Amino acid sequence: MSQKVALVTGGTGGLGTAICHSLADAGFRVVAGYNSGGNHDKAKAWQEEQRKAGYEILVAYGDVTSEESCKACIKSVEEMTGSSVSVLINNAGITRDGQFKKMSWEQWDEVMSANLDSMFHMTRLVINPMVDNGWGRIINISSVNAQKGQFGQCNYSAAKAGIHGFTKALAQEVARKGVTVNTVSPGYIKTAMVAKIAEEVQEKICSGIPVGRFGTPEEIGRVCSFLADEQSAYITGADLSINGGLHMS
Ligand code: CAA
Repeated sequence: MSQKVALVTGGTGGLGTAICHSLADAGFRVVAGYNSGGNHDKAKAWQEEQRKAGYEILVAYGDVTSEESCKACIKSVEEMTGSSVSVLINNAGITRDGQFKKMSWEQWDEVMSANLDSMFHMTRLVINPMVDNGWGRIINISSVNAQKGQFGQCNYSAAKAGIHGFTKALAQEVARKGVTVNTVSPGYIKTAMVAKIAEEVQEKICSGIPVGRFGTPEEIGRVCSFLADEQSAYITGADLSINGGLHMS
């Protein structure tokens, strides 16, 4: 049987790399979508690093804020693999933190485009082939800060909360077609995104996490491959929290 293709947007980043590894370990043909400001050499270097670590992962350029670029990305995935995408992980995302009273329209708009509009563009391009094939997995990466809100993140919390609304609506539309749609909501995970937060703010946040530490990217990757599994067919429209107890709903 040929391998199913899994595309991870933001696949060369901190969370993305762990998600790619977990899906590859689970037997998927993995493609890491990347933007990297158009730095293709950086993506090639990442790919080489993965190869040395024993992972054959394809890379595909795509700016998730642009419909045209997403189209080109999906086309290149189909050309490289000879198959349509069976698993899409909408993982690409950015922060532009700041108190709302000082937030610019650009800070709002950039976060909405990268974190929410991106889901429209990418999912729109893969959903019909999934429905036609009678099998698919859409996994949308949200955040604990969608669930609880976060000082300094009106833009990010709004976009990430929008993600789960999208998940629940689409899950209903494709449930009978063998396609599941779920949200994964990580808490504070050891990635470059969290490292950007001022040290003293990080310490304060960490002290409020019942488990007593930030999460690891691997802890998120594991949940993504669990949802992508053949046997997870009855889980749809769910929001899985992996946050060390920071928020319990
Ligand atoms: N609740 C209430 N008040 C707070 C607060 C909080 N959590 N944090 C700060 N304040 C208060 C401060 O005490 C201060 O009050 P005074 O003016 O009375 O002294 C005031 O707000 C200003 O605080 P800052 O100096 O921190 O303000 P700033 O504008 O320089 O910085 C900020 C604001 C950049 C948003 C900073 O607070 C920050 O980095 N916060 C953390 C944001 C965060 O958690 N981002 C997550 C990024 S990782 C991610 O998003 C991944 C994921 O999914 C989890």
